[in-house]
Amino acid sequence: KIAKIYLVLFPMHLNHIFNSFLVCPATEKHVKKYLHQEVFLVEESGEDYRNLTLPYISSQSFSVQWVHNILEKKAEADRIVFEDPDPDTGFVLFQLQDLYLIAIVHRRDVKSLRDLTSEHLPLLTNIRSKGEDAIQRQYGIPPRKLCMYLHYQPSYYHLHVHFTSLEFDAPGCRVERAHLLSDVIQNLQADSSYYRNCSLAFPLRADDGLLLRFKEAGKL
Ligand SMILES: *[C@@H]1O[C@H](CO)[C@@H](O)[C@H](O)[C@H]1NC(C)=O
Ligand SMILES: *[C@@H]1O[C@H](CO)[C@@H](O)[C@H](O)[C@H]1NC(C)=O
Repeated sequence: KIAKIYLVLFPMHLNHIFNSFLVCPATEKHVKKYLHQEVFLVEESGEDYRNLTLPYISSQSFSVQWVHNILEKKAEADRIVFEDPDPDTGFVLFQLQDLYLIAIVHRRDVKSLRDLTSEHLPLLTNIRSKGEDAIQRQYGIPPRKLCMYLHYQPSYYHLHVHFTSLEFDAPGCRVERAHLLSDVIQNLQADSSYYRNCSLAFPLRADDGLLLRFKEAGKL
């Protein structure tokens, strides 16, 4: 029998948490392949980002149309908990699950942590203070019970900040992927080009195209 592979599309707002494939009919080999992908920790210098990662991201043209649809209220507007419409420092606070929200920035020119400089400090501190206020008002969760962080690599290249309750063990909050918003703010206050230059480590699955780029460049 020939196995077919189906991409399972979850509702838009869940796409970034679940990326799923359905293989049917599945042999034991398939199950192994999809369940037990080896994971490698890659260490990316600022130069590696410019030489390998950025060209890879650009070549893939990952779509962030669904993010734009949320920002333009064309989709899922009922999940918007708060909005600051300022084009430079504003954002939309979007509910994914009960105690899991993301702040999606209105600016469209910031792909990830790597693009941040001290120029973005007003944006980041605004997200922190207004996000905390909105969540306290809406859910009664005080700032001291909130975890705010960015992912690197992110699942999509449009800057967003994760907000979860400390009591909720959210996917992707482990140290090799999450960067606390408060640390990011402090690092940028100390050095505007901190994230342009520093080495960042992150996990990649064996079947990730970016991992192949690092392998080919002899970096793994
Ligand atoms: C990045 O690319 C340049 C030009 O190809 C090369 O000279 C340099 O060694 C590369 N840097 C790293 C860290 O691989
Ligand atoms: C950091 O990067 C900037 C340019 O992006 C460069 O001018 C500076 O020398 C770098 N600093 C270090 C410590 O590598």
